[in-house]
Amino acid sequence: MDRVGSRRSGQETLVPPQHDDPSTDVDVRDYRDGDYQACRHLWVELTEHHRRLFDDPTIGGEDPGAGLDRYLADPERAASWVAEVAGEVVGLTGLLHHGSSGEVEPVVVAEARRGGGIGRALIARVVDEAVSRGYEYLAIRPVARNASAIRAFHSTGFRTLGGHVDLTMDLKPRRHRPLGSVGLHGVELQY
Ligand SMILES: CC(C)(COP(=O)(O)OP(=O)(O)OC[C@H]1O[C@@H](n2cnc3c(N)ncnc32)[C@H](O)[C@@H]1OP(=O)(O)O)[C@@H](O)C(=O)NCCC(=O)NCCS
Repeated sequence: MDRVGSRRSGQETLVPPQHDDPSTDVDVRDYRDGDYQACRHLWVELTEHHRRLFDDPTIGGEDPGAGLDRYLADPERAASWVAEVAGEVVGLTGLLHHGSSGEVEPVVVAEARRGGGIGRALIARVVDEAVSRGYEYLAIRPVARNASAIRAFHSTGFRTLGGHVDLTMDLKPRRHRPLGSVGLHGVELQY
């Protein structure tokens, strides 16, 4: 079976993974204090995904779960939700408030559950909240090489590039091997 986030560094097959039980009953509900340990684990999985993408085990530092603490303390955090399947927390998302717009941050599904519609259910909850708050738009900011996530987000309705494209010029040998290139405005850009 093709999987998202293959263990080989940076290599992703861009075929949605198939979950054994596509009829999975997902409950998306507000985050509560008792979800902390499960969400810390999800944050570690999010970090591991990025470590594989960049072939860089230092991403997230020695305690990658601590990223959840920084996230929970972010003054722009408006709300957070978890996805529960059969009483188990298997996904986390949230909404950051940026004035007249919102941002989905984070969004992560337990690796074993990806491709089963849970990410779509989480994002739908954030979209509902963003609409009810009257935001002009909703952003989501995957790293450029997170091709599987970009495809999933495109599929769930994110179709427009935001205000800035993050162009960089290497001044030292690259730490992270380029994975490919994409065309934009008639030029090729590595990612
Ligand atoms: C990105 C992520 C949250 C998506 O959640 P998910 O539960 O796997 O996604 P879903 O099963 O709900 O799929 C939603 C849509 O995306 C598509 N999709 C999912 N994974 C895909 C992939 N690898 N390639 C192409 N499309 C994909 C699905 O086909 C579906 O579209 P469809 O209904 O039109 O078929 C999840 O894969 C994840 O946690 N990834 C690792 C962490 C990460 O990168 N987070 C984002 C950081 S910004």
